[in-house]
Amino acid sequence: MTEYVAPRGTRDILPDETPRWQYVESKFRENCGLYGYREIRTPTFEHTELFTRNLGEATDVVSKEMYTFEDRGGRSITLRPEGTAPTVRAYVQHNLGAALPVNKAYYIGRIFRYERPQAGRYREHTQLGIEAFGSIDPAIDAEIISMAAQFFKSIGIEKFELKLNSIGCPNCRPIYREALLQFAKDRVDKLCESCVSRYEQNPMRMLDCKNPDCKAVLADAPRLPDHLCDECAEHFAKVKGYLTALGIDYTLDPNLVRGFDYYTKTAFEFVSGELGAQNAIGGGGRYDNMVHEIGGQSTPAMGFGLGLDRLMLTLDAMGINLPIDANTTAFIASMGSDAHDAAVKLLAQFRQQGISADMDYTGRSLKAQMKIADKLGSKYVIILGEDEVAKQTATVRCMATSDQKSVPFAELAETLQV
Ligand code: HAM
Repeated sequence: MTEYVAPRGTRDILPDETPRWQYVESKFRENCGLYGYREIRTPTFEHTELFTRNLGEATDVVSKEMYTFEDRGGRSITLRPEGTAPTVRAYVQHNLGAALPVNKAYYIGRIFRYERPQAGRYREHTQLGIEAFGSIDPAIDAEIISMAAQFFKSIGIEKFELKLNSIGCPNCRPIYREALLQFAKDRVDKLCESCVSRYEQNPMRMLDCKNPDCKAVLADAPRLPDHLCDECAEHFAKVKGYLTALGIDYTLDPNLVRGFDYYTKTAFEFVSGELGAQNAIGGGGRYDNMVHEIGGQSTPAMGFGLGLDRLMLTLDAMGINLPIDANTTAFIASMGSDAHDAAVKLLAQFRQQGISADMDYTGRSLKAQMKIADKLGSKYVIILGEDEVAKQTATVRCMATSDQKSVPFAELAETLQV
């Protein structure tokens, strides 16, 4: 017999685990609401060119990680490998800038990258993202970063590191790139194979190579923040000023370059000490030219993407118990066919009254039904036998205290709602 398993790099999040995920998602929505972000839902797949033209041809994502296929109509389609380009596409396509000067959107979506799976790195993962269009004000950079920090705290993650950098703009970056190439020119033979190709195609990516030899070779390389033009330097100084004013700690990391070519000015990453090699729980930055490059009016923008899967791993590693409600309020355990039929009616009433309830449909013993109620996390078990049906009363057992009392059918709803 064929053994079916989920494809490599994908996972099932089972019903026992989903309440924790839903809790974190609801906290994210709540925080988005507090900061004025409204949800956008874009398709799971897009035309391939959206990504190849806007993320950077030499990036790992575009050059080797996209799930690209031809659909039956002969179009090249790609499962979204990130959420920013689709949001920009929607912003331009629907001319959202015409309605509001600043548009703030958030999304919770599946992202697909053909990466080598390991702990915290999957081929399908979920990102919680926000994007703000229409403002160059460094205050919005600080707002976006502080929203992520507030969200982390709201789910109990108090300890994380914020790495911050400015990667300049098309005016200053080419000058820095040249300085970096000059520095690396005589040292290329000491770099790893990947950095040799980065040297040729995407030299700034050499800066975040994890190989210790490359790190040593590039330790004295020119630093990006020292090459910023006046506009970028002033912007960066203001971002740092606002973050300090908001009480948000950061570490300056001149080697933080991020994985996509669209970034300009502010770049940041949140790192958790609870994870192994894949320790980035989120990252983002400005991308002031992408709206124009996609065909819209020149519109500055900035956002972040947080990896929900890695957030869940962080919560597990920190042993954080989230305040999750029991799944069902009441479970009806019945014995005998009259009691079973009475249970069907009671269940319907409870649900119409807004009380979550369930029952056994397999004719198990009372003991087995109690076990199921316990597994489902029911607050109460309502025990119904032939006698109870005859008297139109039920035994209500509180699972937390094991207290039991006899309650007339007509008063059950009231008892369960206290
Ligand atoms: P990114 O840094 O590529 O940025 O991804 C954001 C986050 O998604 C990462 O920090 C990480 O937590 C999570 N992540 C990425 N790849 C994987 C994976 N294979 N498995 C599990 N988690 C993963 C972006 O995607 C940008 N679009 C973020 C952004 C929004 N920048 C501006 N606006």
